[in-house]
Amino acid sequence: MRSLKMIAVAACISVAGSFPANAGEVADSRQLIKLPNEIEKKMMINMRDHIVALDEIVGAVLAGEYQKAEDIAESRLGWSSLVRHGDQEVADHWAVPMQKMADEMYRSASNFVIVAQNASVEEDKDSYKKVMSALHKVTSACSGCHQTFRVR
Ligand code: HEC
Repeated sequence: MRSLKMIAVAACISVAGSFPANAGEVADSRQLIKLPNEIEKKMMINMRDHIVALDEIVGAVLAGEYQKAEDIAESRLGWSSLVRHGDQEVADHWAVPMQKMADEMYRSASNFVIVAQNASVEEDKDSYKKVMSALHKVTSACSGCHQTFRVR
């Protein structure tokens, strides 16, 4: 009985220890950006669309449908996306460094489009890697901002 308990405790410790960040135990050093309620709601709707777009882009790349991946990237994350043009209202509430990080996302998504366009014509064995590397720049832009700012 006693040894079973020990095993259970040991198992719990090893599971807990395998997570890189345990909620509540790690200090949150992100900068809080306070937003009016309505603006925060709008921003979170955009964010949820960002992750859906990203998921669809990865799926399209995997299927070799570069054109589809390009369309999603440009229209939903890129420099000419509706988010960038239509949501100036949200971005106006952001700190300047946060706006710069958003620009990084628009820029990397538009760069991804160019890289994917080139890859679809060059038929190079490295082109898949180039496309993934360009996509990684997009995810790094997401993650960079998430590690720096919070709104709640
Ligand atoms: C300019 C900064 C910035 C960029 C760029 C950014 N985000 Fe966010 N995102 C945030 C902040 C801030 C939050 C709120 C985090 C918090 O307060 O806990 C957030 C929240 C989210 C959420 C949670 C939504 C919810 O309803 O809770 C998702 C999902 C998300 N982002 C996805 C993405 C994806 C995917 C990308 C890149 C394609 C991205 N974000 C790019 C700043 C950013």
